[in-house]
Amino acid sequence: MALCNYHPVVSVDTLEHSTESGTVPRAEGNGLPPGPRIPRLLQTLGFIFAGPRFLEACRRRYGNAVTLGTLFDERFVMLFDPALVKELFQGPHDQLHAGEANALLGPILGNRSVLLLDGAEHLRHRRMMLPPFHGRRMQAYADTMRESADLEIDSWPLGEPFSLMPSMQSLTLRVIMCAVFGFEPGAAEEELRRRIRDMIDPLARPRGVPLMLVLGRLGAGRGADRGAARRFDAARRAVDEILYAEIARRRDDPQLSEREDVFSSLLLAVDETGDRLSDREIRDELVTLLLAGHETTATGLAWTFDLLLHAPAVLGRARERDDEYLDAVVKEALRLRPVIPGVGRVVRQEPFRLGGYVIPPGVEINPSIRMIHRRADLYPSPKEYRPERFLGPDAPDTYTWLPFGGGTRRCLGASFALTEMRIVVARILERAALRAHDPELEKVQFRGITLAPRNGVRVILEHPPSPTMSVGNI
Ligand code: HEM
Repeated sequence: MALCNYHPVVSVDTLEHSTESGTVPRAEGNGLPPGPRIPRLLQTLGFIFAGPRFLEACRRRYGNAVTLGTLFDERFVMLFDPALVKELFQGPHDQLHAGEANALLGPILGNRSVLLLDGAEHLRHRRMMLPPFHGRRMQAYADTMRESADLEIDSWPLGEPFSLMPSMQSLTLRVIMCAVFGFEPGAAEEELRRRIRDMIDPLARPRGVPLMLVLGRLGAGRGADRGAARRFDAARRAVDEILYAEIARRRDDPQLSEREDVFSSLLLAVDETGDRLSDREIRDELVTLLLAGHETTATGLAWTFDLLLHAPAVLGRARERDDEYLDAVVKEALRLRPVIPGVGRVVRQEPFRLGGYVIPPGVEINPSIRMIHRRADLYPSPKEYRPERFLGPDAPDTYTWLPFGGGTRRCLGASFALTEMRIVVARILERAALRAHDPELEKVQFRGITLAPRNGVRVILEHPPSPTMSVGNI
């Protein structure tokens, strides 16, 4: 369960106590890295109640690779070091299965989703999906991103607190509808957006993971669980209905090749044998792009504003609208508040050798994005929001800064998300004077897949936004 990384720990004191009376860290007989010997229930509680503190205590005690076990996963290995992560990300693609690690998402995405596939099938889908996500294509989506930001800015109340998170969700969903799905604003687009929100809202709540577990055995749950699973299934079918109708319509559209959206390029893509993606595969990839790209980017944007509005010096410099600095503002936000805490690879076929250990087949390896991003030796004063870290020749490398995972599974939408975040931050700073409503930074809350701001980042718009400089009002 990699993307979710819900390896929910005990008090850090219990761990320290047990290790003090235990042995010096060493590889276990089977070659796995060392780890706490406390019961899995306690480790589970530790994850839930002390997350980063528990993991930091494990890292200090056992080193950069630690074997853990929870009620959700009997045995897995967490990595806290860029060199080990590099070994993993550069390891053999068909021996290290990310698709299997993401299996929890299967009932939602469908089993032909690039996130769930492994080996040759994964590469086939990934190659067919990559072209519209190439950096060069981003310019085509920039206007959509800016216009979507304008619509949100113009809807904010003046002088009273409101939460940014729902506004960012609506913004990023609109961008996906236009850039990925190719739907123009209007009744059909509104209806699809409504059905999509009905489907994904229950997943983005703190109880999202239990719901996903129930969905994994749809119908097997009891009472409220079963009801929630049925409601989800009905919402998913309502979305599918529109998607399959649109797939059929576009397959007959003689102008398909002139369209710039991702949906249309998926319909046109061919693999090396000249085959196209089936209707089912297109549907699964569309839902994947929607789920992978919408809530994540919205959460990243909300965190960026939480951090910016509590750091006056950074905010002042960000307002100067230097693109390189804005890029650093966004990257530093994704470092300090990674939206996804970790990723996973399940070892298959043969044991995998990693940093002197031997990881047997069936064991999942989880680079901890969240813990690597807060290592004081890699990021001095790690709790401070300092975009300057990303300027100049000493900027963190791709295994030290990994909010988008890495290797052959690195997020397909990374450029898309970074572009969207930079454009939206720039537009909001240009047009709107926001201030934080709460003096403190938001608390981090685990929402099924993402680490989100608990209260949605409450802000106040201090003056009416400046007008947009569209052709109409120049
Ligand atoms: C701030 C926003 C985002 C974050 C933090 C994020 C993070 C991630 C992470 C951690 C992974 C797993 C990588 C791995 O296993 O190594 C991933 C995969 C993926 N993401 Fe994103 N993502 C974001 C936005 C997007 C967007 C905008 C899209 C597309 C519209 C997207 C599409 C995907 C896809 C298709 C995959 C699966 C790649 C594969 O398995 O080959 N993501 N993302």
